[in-house]
Amino acid sequence: MLNIRPSQACDLPAIAAIYRHHVLYGTGTFETDPPSAQEMAARREDVLSKELPYLIAEDDAGRLLGFAYANWFKPRPAYRFSAEDSVYVLDSARGQGVGRRLLQALVTDCEAAGVRKLLAVIGDSANTGSIGLHRSTGFVPAGTLRSMGWKFGRWLDIVLMEKTLGTGDRSPPVEK
Ligand SMILES: CC(C)(COP(=O)(O)OP(=O)(O)OC[C@H]1O[C@@H](n2cnc3c(N)ncnc32)[C@H](O)[C@@H]1OP(=O)(O)O)[C@@H](O)C(=O)NCCC(=O)NCCS
Repeated sequence: MLNIRPSQACDLPAIAAIYRHHVLYGTGTFETDPPSAQEMAARREDVLSKELPYLIAEDDAGRLLGFAYANWFKPRPAYRFSAEDSVYVLDSARGQGVGRRLLQALVTDCEAAGVRKLLAVIGDSANTGSIGLHRSTGFVPAGTLRSMGWKFGRWLDIVLMEKTLGTGDRSPPVEK
């Protein structure tokens, strides 16, 4: 059984370990040096301070299998109803539905938080896992930015996908 719940500070070591793997070996993130424990904690605090979701998935044994969070697309305040999602799954647990469960829960929580647009900024147009995950969760393509990153000795695209939440732009957002 898979359990999705809000993250706690004590989850941070397992979260950091999952992210570290994807920084070192994957192209889904354009970071090249794994962030410190303090930096991972600060990023989580930033998400929570904006009343946005930061979730984890765990199995019956309490093993953390993945995490997902949303943050403003950009820090400037007019972006506060447009959030970018991030989803990372333990390498050995990929392809088993963990990412989909996390992203579905994140969509639900973002909508409840008043977010009107979710954006996926996907590293690498060859990232079939992330593109497939977002497509299966109702995101639609919003364009590809060619050769935006350089990692592992090759140019990497950014694939943009978007999903409208709630009433989208058909009504003004609700201020907190
Ligand atoms: C992207 C990622 C989060 C997906 O999580 P996951 O648990 O492996 O994905 P799921 O098993 O839940 O699959 C979700 C959907 O994506 C599809 N999918 C998953 N991996 C795929 C692949 N390699 N190729 C094509 N489709 C894929 C599945 O078929 C499924 O679609 P369905 O609902 O129509 O059956 C995970 O692979 C990962 O951590 N990747 C590296 C980090 C990364 O790129 N994160 C995204 C940053 S934007």
